[in-house]
Amino acid sequence: MEEDLTIWWDDEEGCVRMIDQTRLPVELKVIACRTLSELKEAILHMRVRGAPALAVAGAFCVVFACRERCGDLEKAAYEIANLRPTAVNLSYGVNRALSAAMRVYDRADDMFAEALNEAKRMIAEDIDVNRRIGERGAALIEDGETVLTHCNAGRLACVGWGTALGIIRTAVFNHGKRVHVFACETRPLNQGSRLTAWELMHDNIAVTLITDSAAAKIMRDGLIDSVIVGADRVVKEGFFNKIGTYMHAIVAKEHSIPFYVAAPTSSFDLKKSEKDVEIEERGREEIIFVGNEQIAPLDIDVRNPAFDFTPHQFVSAYITENGVFRPEELINSAL
Ligand code: MRU
Repeated sequence: MEEDLTIWWDDEEGCVRMIDQTRLPVELKVIACRTLSELKEAILHMRVRGAPALAVAGAFCVVFACRERCGDLEKAAYEIANLRPTAVNLSYGVNRALSAAMRVYDRADDMFAEALNEAKRMIAEDIDVNRRIGERGAALIEDGETVLTHCNAGRLACVGWGTALGIIRTAVFNHGKRVHVFACETRPLNQGSRLTAWELMHDNIAVTLITDSAAAKIMRDGLIDSVIVGADRVVKEGFFNKIGTYMHAIVAKEHSIPFYVAAPTSSFDLKKSEKDVEIEERGREEIIFVGNEQIAPLDIDVRNPAFDFTPHQFVSAYITENGVFRPEELINSAL
């Protein structure tokens, strides 16, 4: 396995390789996707997930679409970008690879190589950007502090290093600070307990797992110095992130705990409003079953929105690779 990467291109076999995140924490398994349909399946079933990782997965989908000579590349790109509609990064990645391919539209044989080069550039950029977010964010954490996070905005959500967890890693490894993380389990798919807990333990960073519903008590008890989460899309009035983020933001504000959003500038979509963004609604089985265990009546009415929206008023600052911005600074910023 390539050191510390979540998704990458295997030049020898001409395929995409990725950590199958549905298998963690039970096993660290690398799988190959050799066709567009295999990679689309991996995105839909969240073998690869997390906004920045989805950007690269989307770009690789376009690479496969070029290699497979999909008739209408723009239509194929549109379908890929809508596999998971909330994170802007998927369409960002698709569009970058599509533009690269379309620049050589008159040379059909070169489209695959151009799209692939662009996807590889995105991999290098992802790690660089996350390291920069890490440095900016680490300056906001004092030695000995405790940070609460939700979902997984770690290296598994990116190509490497991570955004919210990248900040923790930078604080610990580059600056020698002692940081303790409270990870919310993040029902229903448990990215917090399966992925964030695994990542941090793997790195020997102190982590305590809590249920999502324990977060308010833990904050009220004074155990948390700041909350740091990732973002799937930042729009004019606020940001979208994993369902449950909004409640943590409200509780943090009530208890005067700084609430930070760590995100690459590619997650910013400031021309759009909350109402322009579709919130992915996922299947009822995610709530009725845990694994194969049925935990609710089979015919219960269910709503399963995968993301929620948090208005800017709850955000202390957005931590990007280009700087740390208060919400009111975003519109005139260098984003
Ligand atoms: O449904 P997921 O697991 O793709 O959702 C992931 C999140 O909500 C993350 O917090 C977000 O993508 C930021 S990742 C750096």
